[in-house]
Amino acid sequence: MNIRFDGKVAVVTGAARGIGYVCAEMLADSGANVAMIDILGDRLAESVKKIQEKKGTAKGYQLDLTHVATIGPLVSRIRQELGEIDVLIQAAAIGPARVAEEITEAEWDAVFNANSKGLFFMMQAVTGQSMIPRKTGSIVNFASIAGLVGMRPPLCSAHYSGSKGAVVQLTKQGAIEWAPHNIRVNAVAPGGVLTEMTMAMIGTPEKLAAATAMVPLKRLSQPEEIASGVLFLASDAARMITGHILVVDGGGYAASS
Ligand SMILES: NC(=O)c1ccc[n+]([C@@H]2O[C@H](COP(=O)([O-])OP(=O)(O)OC[C@H]3O[C@@H](n4cnc5c(N)ncnc54)[C@H](O)[C@@H]3O)[C@@H](O)[C@H]2O)c1
Repeated sequence: MNIRFDGKVAVVTGAARGIGYVCAEMLADSGANVAMIDILGDRLAESVKKIQEKKGTAKGYQLDLTHVATIGPLVSRIRQELGEIDVLIQAAAIGPARVAEEITEAEWDAVFNANSKGLFFMMQAVTGQSMIPRKTGSIVNFASIAGLVGMRPPLCSAHYSGSKGAVVQLTKQGAIEWAPHNIRVNAVAPGGVLTEMTMAMIGTPEKLAAATAMVPLKRLSQPEEIASGVLFLASDAARMITGHILVVDGGGYAASS
């Protein structure tokens, strides 16, 4: 199967680094014109440049998704500069490691605002402005295995897991509400992926080895292995799939369920 996005405009949040960056790169390699959104301005500029050096079409937009009032105006700007939006990929999230007894209200709000609230209002802006009027669109959100099963810190934490459980449900709700407009909404639920977020959450090589040992395939995923699931869900190859949570985790969920 040759998945292509020629002539399509794709928006990717959390695109400065990690899995979001790899999604943006693979979309650009597949012909999409990519709007890359992130809070990290300098890192975003470097990442956009990397894609442009490979002859990909990409443009960076610095935004803090927790500032909900700024989301709608940014979506308008992307539409003016790149065209109507066909694909929305939402990888932006934060995942601080914390045991349940120590989570403060401010930390709870920060995690939910970035991981669930910003994600919902980005879907609302993109569907409302670009997808519903054209009766077409595909959205892929980033949930997590932590949104499906309970896990001990530091592999996850109560606020992170709760926010990812919310992403699972927002994905299903969006799929049903926007199906009449021919808009599909799916999510990926990665297990452990070798990125900066994972290293920050897990902390030490010993804990990383312990997390790896729990995976039936005996390794954590590479970002490309998550991104290929994302591109499949975003593409016409998945045109009958909506409201689906695609687990990509080397078998860990199967072992625990
Ligand atoms: N790495 C893993 O093991 C793993 C496992 C399961 C799910 N996930 C999910 O995959 C996605 C990507 O994870 P990653 O490991 O690449 O993380 P990462 O930390 O490397 O990348 C996340 C990006 O989101 C951006 N971001 C965070 N808050 C933002 C905000 N308020 N506004 C705009 N941008 C913001 C960050 O700056 C960063 O560039 C996340 O949703 C994460 O929860 C990751």
